[in-house]
Amino acid sequence: MPEVNKEYRVVKDVSTSISEITDGIYRISGFVKEFGITFNQFLINDEKPTLIHTGPIGMYQEVEARVKEVIPLDKLSYVSFLHFESDEWGGMEFLNAPGVKLLCSDLSSKLNLTGWSGMRADHISFWDNETLKTGKKTLRFIMTPHVHHWDSMMVFEETTKSLFPSDLFIQPGVNKPVESTDLSESMIGLYRGAGIFASETPVRQTTKRLAKLNPEMVFPMHGSCIGKDMFPKYVDALMKQEFAYSGLLLGQKLEVG
Ligand SMILES: [Fe+2]
Ligand SMILES: [Fe+2]
Repeated sequence: MPEVNKEYRVVKDVSTSISEITDGIYRISGFVKEFGITFNQFLINDEKPTLIHTGPIGMYQEVEARVKEVIPLDKLSYVSFLHFESDEWGGMEFLNAPGVKLLCSDLSSKLNLTGWSGMRADHISFWDNETLKTGKKTLRFIMTPHVHHWDSMMVFEETTKSLFPSDLFIQPGVNKPVESTDLSESMIGLYRGAGIFASETPVRQTTKRLAKLNPEMVFPMHGSCIGKDMFPKYVDALMKQEFAYSGLLLGQKLEVG
């Protein structure tokens, strides 16, 4: 394993825990105090086990240790990242596992994977509504451009009706694995302060589409998982409230014009 200079890691010394949320789907979560949110990775343990995002490089050893509580690393078949950002797939060492394949959106492939020096080039990319069987489970890939990155996609596991929306429906703070109270107001506050969406329009288009999938469980990358009873509150908040970028970036005011 190559040594990474720890001095340059923003995220470090994060401890993680693992919990099974639903039928072989595990949440690996650690609270990152620099950002005031949890960073969650999800392991879908099927015939071909799949890790949905990796966490940043500074969390790699912790996430790897939790994955190994469920499967040996050489059983890992797929690692999927949902947009190009270090918390999504900074843990690229997972690709050293023998036989593991990287899954990403068609846009991630064209924009990011094929243009960097030293980047491992082999991967499987998906366009809207394409599916992949991992054994008993089926992953459906949903293109969600500009929520919040150009290359963003989300994953819907069809047999358990599990939605992996990456940075949509996230909540700040130290969270339980599954939250049964409504945290949609703190979600909106987080979006306003962080400035991750340029406009409400693509977010609302995607939110409408996701609501029609009727997910049983939603697995945001930051915060708690959200069950189907509480999910409509988050949909409502996104449809009715303003949350687009208005000058704040990660809580810092940008004075322009
Ligand atoms: Fe992101
Ligand atoms: Fe994220």
